[in-house]
Amino acid sequence: MTQAQEIRTAVFPVAGRGTRFLPATKASPKEMLPIVDKPLIQYAAEEALAAGARKLVFITGSSKRAIEDHFDSDAELETALEKQGKTDLLKALKEIVPAWASCIYIRQPSPLGLGHAVWCAKPVVGNEPFFVHLADDLIDGPTPCLRQMAAVYAERGGSILGVETVPRSETDKYGIVATDGREGRVSRVKQIVEKPRPQNAPSTLAVVGRYLLSPTIFAKLEQTGRGAGGEIQLTDAIADLLADEPVFAYEFEGKRYDCGSKLGYLQATVEYGLKHEALGEKFSEYLIGLAAKLK
Ligand code: UTP
Repeated sequence: MTQAQEIRTAVFPVAGRGTRFLPATKASPKEMLPIVDKPLIQYAAEEALAAGARKLVFITGSSKRAIEDHFDSDAELETALEKQGKTDLLKALKEIVPAWASCIYIRQPSPLGLGHAVWCAKPVVGNEPFFVHLADDLIDGPTPCLRQMAAVYAERGGSILGVETVPRSETDKYGIVATDGREGRVSRVKQIVEKPRPQNAPSTLAVVGRYLLSPTIFAKLEQTGRGAGGEIQLTDAIADLLADEPVFAYEFEGKRYDCGSKLGYLQATVEYGLKHEALGEKFSEYLIGLAAKLK
């Protein structure tokens, strides 16, 4: 058994262009798209904080200022809400980031790929394991996904990749792993390939937007050239890491919504709307009426 180590830092690469959501993402970040009343990046921060992270590192790019503004306090707005007696809203704003957590912003000079974005976090991560969270993969689970992964790390050490089985026809959208030695939801990664064609994929186990990485990944990223799509791929650096350190695949508990795609985004909006405390009942009545009309 490995000594448990707290994971204090979470890295959020948010410098991608979000082309699948254009024109919505022309001037505002994909990660600020709301699911009911919270932007995707807030769900991401909440998950990392629930897993014990204290340092939230955002790798930003052009048109991403709104993310910094979202996590900053807005004294004028808070005073206005206070005067209007809107205490619930005021509380919701103040709880976006607790005082004990810090937000750090690093600019990725140009979107050279996810691997490059993670490498940009090196000066603030240091020589510790850390989370990487992609906000457009929204995961609704009984326990926050990163917390599940931190528990696996406490048992097994190494690096942990959040994975799920996808249809074979979709392997070319993901990093795909080949594994062995499965115990429950955890198995050892033997091979990882970025976006293989369905006929070449070593399995249908896909890496989704949750990682717990050993700091050795930075040395690997330094040697990683451009891979699939001409980008510096995190997958290629993880493939190098496999030779030196254990990497585990963890089949998380929960449902993932690919909010980087329009269909996944709409599905998340409907399902989170149905579960919303104040709206759920009315929204459900509306959907039942709508379904009856569609029949
Ligand atoms: P995606 O592959 O989803 O790309 O990136 P994207 O640019 O965000 O969206 P599309 O495909 O053009 O619609 C996966 C994650 O990696 C980040 C993105 O912000 C996203 O969270 N990323 C990607 C960076 O931070 N920098 C990059 O250079 C590339």
